[in-house]
Amino acid sequence: MTVLVTGVRGRVGRGVLRLLGDAGVPVRAASAGGETDPAGGEPPVHLDLGDPGTFRAALKGIRRVFLYAHPGTAQQFVREAVDAGVEHVVLLSSLAIDAGGAQESPIARLHLEVEEALRSSALGWTFVRPGAFAANALQWAAPIRAGRGLRLAYPDTYSEPVHERDLAEVVFRALFDDAHRGGVLRITGPESLSARRQAELIGQATGVPVAVERIGREEQRAQLTAVLPEAFADTLLTYQEQRDGRPAAPSPDAERVLGRSAVSFAAWAREHAESFR
Ligand SMILES: NC(=O)c1ccc[n+]([C@@H]2O[C@H](COP(=O)([O-])OP(=O)(O)OC[C@H]3O[C@@H](n4cnc5c(N)ncnc54)[C@H](OP(=O)(O)O)[C@@H]3O)[C@@H](O)[C@H]2O)c1
Repeated sequence: MTVLVTGVRGRVGRGVLRLLGDAGVPVRAASAGGETDPAGGEPPVHLDLGDPGTFRAALKGIRRVFLYAHPGTAQQFVREAVDAGVEHVVLLSSLAIDAGGAQESPIARLHLEVEEALRSSALGWTFVRPGAFAANALQWAAPIRAGRGLRLAYPDTYSEPVHERDLAEVVFRALFDDAHRGGVLRITGPESLSARRQAELIGQATGVPVAVERIGREEQRAQLTAVLPEAFADTLLTYQEQRDGRPAAPSPDAERVLGRSAVSFAAWAREHAESFR
C-alpha cells in the first residue's frame, strides 16, 4: 500500500515522509519542485497541485495521500484520485475555517474548497486543521538576529502555536487509523501565548532578550504586503486584532490523537535557537 506525500519540501510534508520511512511504509514522495529529495533518497516525482496534467502519473498505484491544500484544482485532483483507486486522503487544512466569517477569509476559503471537494467524493478523508504554526516565528528570525527586536501591530495577540513535528505525527496517525476517517482534527499547541510571550521564550532560548515595540497597523500591513497578497495580509491582521489580549483554550485533539501532550513553544524555541542567533 503506497502512500503519496505531496509537497515533500514543506515542513509538514518532510516530517510525514520521515515518519513513513521510519515505519517502513512504501512511499512516493512528490514535489512541485521535484529535482532533489530533502532526505537524500530517490528524487521526488513531479506533482504540481496547480497543474492537473501532473496528477495521473503521481497517483498511479497509490492508496493513501497526504495532501497540501491548493486552490482551483481540487475537483480534478479528487477525480484522478478516485480513478487511481485511492482510498483515503489526509488533508492539511486550516483552523481558519473555524474562526467565524470563513467566507470572507481567503485563507479559510482556499482550505474549505479542498475540504468540500473531498467531502462530496467517494474517497475516505481526514481533515487536519492546524492553528498557527510555531514555525511562523521564523519570520522574526532576521530582525532578532540583527538585534533590532520586533515591531508588531498586535504584540498582545494570542495564538496556540503548534510544532510542525506534532502535525506530521497527527497526519501519520490519520493515514492509518480508521478511527479518524471522516474526522476533523483541530490541532493546536498546548498553550495560548501572546506574541510578546513567544518573543520572550525565544529570548530565553538564545540567551538574548528580544525587545518588542508596538507599531501602527498600516506599518505592519506595508511589511506584510511586501511578501503576501493584500487580501491575505488584511486577513492575518484581522485575526491578530480579533485575538488581541484574548487567550483561548487549546484544542484537546492533539493530545487525544498523539496520546501525549503537544510540544510546547518553549521547547520549539530551544530546538530552533540557532535560527535566532
Ligand atoms: N502557517 C500557519 O500558521 C498555518 C496554519 C494553518 C494551516 N496552515 C497550512 O499549512 C501550510 C504550510 O505548511 P508547511 O509549513 O508544511 O509548508 P511550507 O514549509 O511553507 O511549504 C509548503 C509546501 O507546499 C508545497 N506546495 C506549494 N505549492 C505547491 C504546488 N503547486 N504543488 C505541490 N505542492 C506545492 C511545497 O512543497 P514542494 O515544493 O515540495 O512541492 C511547499 O514546500 C499552509 O499552506 C496552510 O495550508 C498553515
